[in-house]
Amino acid sequence: MQTAVPDIRPHPAPLVHPVQIGPLQVPSNLWLAPMAGISDLPFRRIARRLGAGLVCTELVSARGIRFSGGVRSSLRYLTLAADEHPVAIQLFGFDPDDFVFALEKIMEEPLLRSFDALDINMGCPVPKVVRTGAGSHLMETPELAAAIVQRCRRFLEPYRKPVTVKIRRGFAADSNQAADFAKRMAAAGAQAVTVHARTREQYYSGKADWSVIREVRQALPDQLPVIGNGDIVDAASARRCLEQTGCDGLMIGRAASGDPWIFARLQAELTGKPWREPELWARGSVICEHFDGLTALLGDQLTAAREMRHVLMHYFRGLPDARQLRQAAGQLTSRGDLLQVLRQAGLLGASGQAGAGQGCISPANRQ
Ligand SMILES: Cc1cc2nc3c(=O)[nH]c(=O)nc-3n(C[C@H](O)[C@H](O)[C@H](O)COP(=O)(O)O)c2cc1C
Repeated sequence: MQTAVPDIRPHPAPLVHPVQIGPLQVPSNLWLAPMAGISDLPFRRIARRLGAGLVCTELVSARGIRFSGGVRSSLRYLTLAADEHPVAIQLFGFDPDDFVFALEKIMEEPLLRSFDALDINMGCPVPKVVRTGAGSHLMETPELAAAIVQRCRRFLEPYRKPVTVKIRRGFAADSNQAADFAKRMAAAGAQAVTVHARTREQYYSGKADWSVIREVRQALPDQLPVIGNGDIVDAASARRCLEQTGCDGLMIGRAASGDPWIFARLQAELTGKPWREPELWARGSVICEHFDGLTALLGDQLTAAREMRHVLMHYFRGLPDARQLRQAAGQLTSRGDLLQVLRQAGLLGASGQAGAGQGCISPANRQ
């Protein structure tokens, strides 16, 4: 009697393992996706501490660094913390000279030059970016994309900093350019490829087609890591993606926003270890840490509070009374307001302080 061949194959390696990107060893294969407006410095630090193997900055314009204010204008995106390594910076653009110029300037800045890898954005779907030939449009111009990779690799080689690319399934609605395109990027010097398994036309909606990740994995040499991305939301989807595609690691985007614990949770669940969800006060503590990090980065509480308004929406996902909480979060102007909203959300510890005992709130800035 014939038995059906299951779609799921045993993964060749343990599901969670370190990844080698050229000279860089990354401690785990569960990575935080770059997300504009979300993967800011405080969030990256939190995600790393909670188990993300690699974090990445929000996208930064190479042309902006060259022609509009230099690295100073992008400091808030490119500033790195000592405790977030390994960390990649992500640049987008369409002119190889812009990339080299931007990298030169970044390497001149002590605050910025410690990045561990450069990721080149070849997936951004936003019209303002695509119109210039950057982001996902680079998949339509592989020669240009290869030239950018080649020049960045040549520039960064002496610093032993690898170059990676983040691509999509393709540009047009029904396109599937990823495997051929990835091969060209690898030939040009890319040392890892992340595949967001949607086309540009899909933006972020519709189902990610993981078969394209498998195609890219099969098209590239074994030692070149392929990272799967799109619709990884829990241990079951993480396991399925790893097993169905044979990819070396996963990049997690929207499911991590407001839930940086996903990395520790996945790590535990994929390796058969027990996992306990954080207490509510511990969630409050991390939210305060995020706010304090934004205040330090942006220079004052009001600017941090404005930024925190949309960040809080993510942290409040799934809480009872989320609508009311979101309303209160939308009015945030200070740390005092934040503590009030956290109290309303039930995210303060028994002592009335978020994260009491965690040390993330210094007595000086308690209100
Ligand atoms: C709000 C938002 C901002 C994003 N910003 C970036 C970015 O700066 N660079 C990038 O390469 N991808 C960016 N992405 C795409 C994500 O990195 C990821 O590829 C996409 O969300 C699919 O993964 P997911 O299904 O796990 O969310 C962004 C996605 C979202 C939702």
